[in-house]
Amino acid sequence: MFDKNLKLTRRGVLGGSIAAAAGLITGANIFSSSASAASKKINGKKRSIRFAHLTDIHIEPKRKAPEGFTAALRHVQSQKDKPDMIITGGDNVMDLLGAKDDWAKVQTDTFKEIIAKECELPIKYCIGNHDTWGWDKKNSNTTGDEPLWGKARFVKEFGLENRYYAIDAGKWRILMLDSTHIDKKDVYTAKFDDEQYDWLVEQLKSNQGKYICLINHIPIMSAAVLLDGDNIKQGRWSLPDEWMHLDTRKLVDLFWQNKNVKLCISGHLHLLERLEYNNVTYICDGAVCGGWWGGPFHECQEGYGLFDLYDDGTFDHQYVDYGWEVK
Ligand SMILES: [Fe+2]
Repeated sequence: MFDKNLKLTRRGVLGGSIAAAAGLITGANIFSSSASAASKKINGKKRSIRFAHLTDIHIEPKRKAPEGFTAALRHVQSQKDKPDMIITGGDNVMDLLGAKDDWAKVQTDTFKEIIAKECELPIKYCIGNHDTWGWDKKNSNTTGDEPLWGKARFVKEFGLENRYYAIDAGKWRILMLDSTHIDKKDVYTAKFDDEQYDWLVEQLKSNQGKYICLINHIPIMSAAVLLDGDNIKQGRWSLPDEWMHLDTRKLVDLFWQNKNVKLCISGHLHLLERLEYNNVTYICDGAVCGGWWGGPFHECQEGYGLFDLYDDGTFDHQYVDYGWEVK
C-alpha cells in the first residue's frame, strides 16, 4: 500500500530453499543444529532463534530492484551474528494483482533467480496483497478460472505447502498468516478468514507452553497507518480496511485470552513502527524497497528487521539500513 506508482494498492521458499521452505501447516522445527545462532546465549539469555524479516521487497527487473534485493541479501548474510533464517513479510514481487500472465511470470522468476543465486540461508515466505495474482481482472486480463489465479500462483511458485503455516523455533512458535482477502467492491480487505482464525485459535490453545509470534503482511494494529491519509483536508482520520486489519478487536480479545502471544510482525506500510498494547508488541518493519525502489519512503530507509527471540519469552528487534542508495 502507500504506493504512489501503483494505482491499485490502496483499493486495492526457494534458493537454499524450496526444501527449507517446507513450511508445514503443522509446524516444523528446522533448528536442530547446536551450531546455529539459535543456541547462543545473549546477555545471559538463551536464544530460540535469530531471523531477518525482509518485507515489501517488490521485485521486478526494473528500477534496479534486483541489485537492491541482492545487496539486502548479502547484508543479511554478512552479519557477524548471522541469522538462522530469513522470513519474508509479503509483497515479495512488485505486483501480481493487476499483472498479465507473462508479466507475473517475469516477476516471480526474477525473485526466484536471485534467491537461488544469492541466498544460502533457509527462507520462508509470507503472502502479501501484491503477491496475489489477478484479483484486478481488468488489468490482469484474467477471468478467475485460471488454475493459478489468486494465491495459488504464489503458493506453487514459492514452494509453500499452504498459504498459512507454523514454524517451531525453540521455545517459540511462529505462525505465518495470510492477511489479504478478496473484496468485490474494493479488490481486497485485511483480515484472517474463518478458516485461518479457527486454525489460529487451535494453535494458541495447543501451544500454551510456547511463546507465540505472528507474522502476516498487513498490520493487525498500527498508529503509523494513519499517516497515509490527508486527515486535515478530509476533516477526519482515514483508516480503510486495506491499510490495517478489520478484525483487530476480535484478535486483541483472542490475544488477551492467550497470554502466550507476545509479538505480531507485519509490513505493508513501508514504515517502521513499534506499538505496545495489552502486553503484545506490534512491530511493522520498513520496506526492503523503501519507496518502491525510488528512495526512502518518508523518513524510513530501505531496510530489514533483525529479530532475536529468547527462551524466556522476551525478544529484541532492530531495523537495519543495508545502505541502498538510489543513483
Ligand atoms: Fe508493499
